[in-house]
Amino acid sequence: MKGVVLSGGTGSRLRPITFSMAKQLVPVANKPILFYGLEDLAEAGIEDVAIIIAPQTGDEIRHTVGDGSKLGLNIEYIVQDEPLGLAHALKMALPFVDGDDVLMYLGDNLVKQGVADVVKDFERDKPNCQILLTEVEDPSQFGVAELGPAGEVKRLVEKPSNPRSNLALVGVYLFDQVVTEAVNSIQPSARGELEITDAIQYLVTSGRDVRPSLVTGWWKDTGKKEDLLHANELVLTDLDGEVLGEVVEGKIRGAVRIGAGSQVVDCSITGPVVIGDNVHLARTTVGPNTAIGDGCRLVDTSVEESIVLDGAEIHGWSIRNSLIGRGATLRGAAPAGYAEVTLGERSEILGE
Ligand code: DAU
Repeated sequence: MKGVVLSGGTGSRLRPITFSMAKQLVPVANKPILFYGLEDLAEAGIEDVAIIIAPQTGDEIRHTVGDGSKLGLNIEYIVQDEPLGLAHALKMALPFVDGDDVLMYLGDNLVKQGVADVVKDFERDKPNCQILLTEVEDPSQFGVAELGPAGEVKRLVEKPSNPRSNLALVGVYLFDQVVTEAVNSIQPSARGELEITDAIQYLVTSGRDVRPSLVTGWWKDTGKKEDLLHANELVLTDLDGEVLGEVVEGKIRGAVRIGAGSQVVDCSITGPVVIGDNVHLARTTVGPNTAIGDGCRLVDTSVEESIVLDGAEIHGWSIRNSLIGRGATLRGAAPAGYAEVTLGERSEILGE
């Protein structure tokens, strides 16, 4: 089985962070989201993987992920000039798939249970297509599946305004060689995209075996800030504490990781919290559910339920539910109480 990981698109719902970086490289618990999916593929025994990239952000993805050898994968890259839909991206990968079975994974998704079990089921039962579903509160934001009385897939609709079930399509799809016919038999939707839901609906309508399986653990589409912060919290729940840096005075409670070369002076840290390498923290309160990237500098600050990317500096602010871009700065007179901030790369907020 081959893997196709979708890492193109525009990331418009995560701006301003995604003005300057690919959304799939935004870190969750200090690891780019995309790596979670790639690790899932490797764990499932998939070796050959194509990553679909956009011209704007593709170079950064190539540079960060490389040839995949560190993950035990052979990775090649396919540039999709425009984000013309998930089925369009898969269509571009057909020469790479070359008649093999394929697992398509959306590069901004996190699936707690991984994909090893679903790959095993697919290889054992040999349906034409297998989709993953999970119950959600707000189905109109996703592809939605309607099942029949025997649990069979009856209908799939992309982001319906009146959803007929609460079962959302998770961003993991498996196909046998019918994939070529499926993606070649559909037309662009009203929003101008080749929809993967339409390709799978084509298979249902033409009587192919499309199997649903329910996701048991949590699943997150990290397309929006709230989802990203929630994913951060969910991943951090399983964190093992480890202190490689230096801690001088202060209190550390719960699972806390502190990277090499970091200095934590007179701070209170309540896990789960992950702090990268070469970070300087002084008189600062951190946590819970917070990730601080490499090379950050936080002084006289409080941060909770937040993601702070590499090289950011915060002086004198209290923030929660915040996303602070790479090399961004928050300093000067801060608002009273906790602020919720989303700050793009190398941006500055300088209070009066
Ligand atoms: O997350 C699950 C949902 O993903 C499904 O329930 C929906 O049925 C499915 O259409 C998709 O919806 P999204 O609106 O979340 O898709 P998004 O545009 O965010 O794209 C998902 C990933 O695929 C993301 O990493 C960007 C990438 N992508 C997207 C498009 C449209 C590409 O590489 N090329 C594309 O043309």
